[in-house]
Amino acid sequence: MSETHFGFQTVEERDKVRHVRGVFDSVASRYDVMNDLMSLGLHRAWKAYTVAVAALRDGDRVLDIAGGTGDLARAFAKRVGSRGMVVLTDINEAMLSRGRDRLLDVGVVLPTALCDAEALPFAPDSFDLVSVAFGLRNMTHKERALAEMQRVLRPGGRLLVLEFSQVAAPLRKAYDWYSFKVLPRIGKLVAGDADSYRYLAESIRMHPDQQTLKALMKAAGFGHVDVHNLSAGVVALHVGIKC
Ligand SMILES: C[S@@+](CC[C@H](N)C(=O)[O-])C[C@H]1O[C@@H](n2cnc3c(N)ncnc32)[C@H](O)[C@@H]1O
Repeated sequence: MSETHFGFQTVEERDKVRHVRGVFDSVASRYDVMNDLMSLGLHRAWKAYTVAVAALRDGDRVLDIAGGTGDLARAFAKRVGSRGMVVLTDINEAMLSRGRDRLLDVGVVLPTALCDAEALPFAPDSFDLVSVAFGLRNMTHKERALAEMQRVLRPGGRLLVLEFSQVAAPLRKAYDWYSFKVLPRIGKLVAGDADSYRYLAESIRMHPDQQTLKALMKAAGFGHVDVHNLSAGVVALHVGIKC
């Protein structure tokens, strides 16, 4: 049986999805407030940057993978207009239904699909843009998920991967202190769950750095990949073009 990592733990590959589900089932109800607290609101700027780079046009078709509570999907929906389409997807029911409810609360109705990024239920060449924000890190077979994203994009379409990445060397010590000492405490206080936020810090350390992810995207069939470092590499936006 193959093994993989779940944070710093080694687990059976077939069990990772269950562990990840446990994390997001646990944090779903406090997810948005925790995002604001942990990032001091910065996640809004990272997402706004992603939306700007997406440069969507009226009528575009967009797939938001691991879309969770729907921040990107909501912003995309505004830009593609009534002739376009944004599909919100996630593997986790608690996150997805929270996302759908949040969108309904502001009058946005989008098609939603509960699905695994590693086996997308969409035909080849269906979308102009695919996005995945802070989701790839949690996937068991990243190369399989990236190949699926490439398959459902039309030729010339773009994949936007927004994800935690490798922070610039001078900041690493402070960032480690914040991640391993402060984050789990905020998680415990606000969401009653230190472990899920410890997993967050660990999973970031286990995620491929900027250049490794770029190589994975190229291997998945993206002919051109650009990397945008944000906040000194705390986060990176990878933009891949299906050539
Ligand atoms: C940190 S949240 C990100 C939510 C949202 N994109 C955002 O930026 O706020 C990560 C999401 O990835 C989802 N996820 C994890 N593994 C997945 C998979 N294999 N396929 C689809 N979604 C997955 C989780 O359920 C969770 O909702």
